[in-house]
Amino acid sequence: MGMAELLHFLCFFGVFWGFIKDSVCVTLNKEIQNGEKPKNGAVEMKTKIVPIGKMDAPEDINKKLSEAGSIIQNGGLVAFPTETVYGLGGDALNPESSKKIYAAKGRPSDNPLIVHIADIAHLESIVCEIPQKAKLLADAFWPGPLTMIFRKSQLVPYQTTGGLETVAVRMPSNVLASQFIEKSGGYIAAPSANISGRPSPTSAKYVKQDMIGRIDMILEADDVEIGLESTIVDVTCEVPMILRPGYITQEMLCGIVGEIKVDETIFDSSSAAVPKAPGMKYRHYAPKGELVIVEGEPRAVVGFINEKTAAHKSRGERTGVLCTEEWLTQYHADSIKNAGSRNDCKTAAMRLYTFLREFDDENIAYIYAEAFDNAGLGQAVMNRLLKAAGHHIVKV
Ligand code: TXA
Ligand code: MG
Repeated sequence: MGMAELLHFLCFFGVFWGFIKDSVCVTLNKEIQNGEKPKNGAVEMKTKIVPIGKMDAPEDINKKLSEAGSIIQNGGLVAFPTETVYGLGGDALNPESSKKIYAAKGRPSDNPLIVHIADIAHLESIVCEIPQKAKLLADAFWPGPLTMIFRKSQLVPYQTTGGLETVAVRMPSNVLASQFIEKSGGYIAAPSANISGRPSPTSAKYVKQDMIGRIDMILEADDVEIGLESTIVDVTCEVPMILRPGYITQEMLCGIVGEIKVDETIFDSSSAAVPKAPGMKYRHYAPKGELVIVEGEPRAVVGFINEKTAAHKSRGERTGVLCTEEWLTQYHADSIKNAGSRNDCKTAAMRLYTFLREFDDENIAYIYAEAFDNAGLGQAVMNRLLKAAGHHIVKV
């Protein structure tokens, strides 16, 4: 081959390779845009991604939610926004839908689902009785981030309640959520829209990360407002009991019903009792790195964490710190996350799950978190943090 032919060949090959590369990229991008997961997941299906939000005209929102609603009525699954975290919805009254939810999440089927309603009138048909205190709590906090446990009626299949005689019910305040529930027939069973064991998704980005290829549709709306799952209160007993702390705090509940108990297993990992909300017994939200919570006088906490991270660094291990704004500049870790002011846990609640996912994405092997005050919303933040850390807390 002469020099001219060789050049010709290289030139042709270059153009040809460019063409192949572009078409591979276009195909891949198209797949991702259309929400089709590359073929390596366990349950494969085409997921339609539907952006929806304030920019849409009301008739467009109506059209999109009607399509989502008919998927639910035909036994399919749709992820949707709520004010707490994104939910993974199916028809709560259809046992086959509930089975599909467990499969899509990879969740143990003894962990019951919450039934979401949009109209208080719908409560009566799914429960045996509505205790007086539940009425007061519903008046005060529904629609909103409160779930109540009732004795279930026959209408609710055991597949939805994980075999229990009780049913968890919540009425979300997110407007898209309640319109979607209406259009779906009124009863949506929805756990958080994450793969079991991962942090609950606070933005559509994380729903897509976990659920593409596993469900029929994702309603891609704004980030959620609260960031932690609803408060769960058992109202089947004389004195209502908190089974999972959340945005509606113990103090707020006491203000309405006077006395309220807290399930002892929520904070005490040494308790021999079994948690009353079956889901609370699983180690949730665990980041890939080792997470340790450090509690004590702020300067001692900073000193301890800096000593630890320096030692890890000297061994070439990547470190992360989750801290309050007040102490942010004092740390020297590879990744430092700002959980907002110590005096207001709202930012910490909103960002916690995102931080846990980001530490994973950044390959952080050792994470240290400042402890939060165990009062008000701090109770919910500490509960999730403790679970993520497998109750590993150091007092300095
Ligand atoms: O904010 C929320 O509650 C979100 C959004 C999507 O609404 N949903 C949510 O669902 O967090 P999930 O499945 O991730 O958590 C439901 C919790 C589990 O811990 C489960 O064990 C408990 O509720 N639960 C459900 N039904 C129950 C029942 N009948 N008795 C006791 N606990 C129950
Ligand atoms: Mg969950």
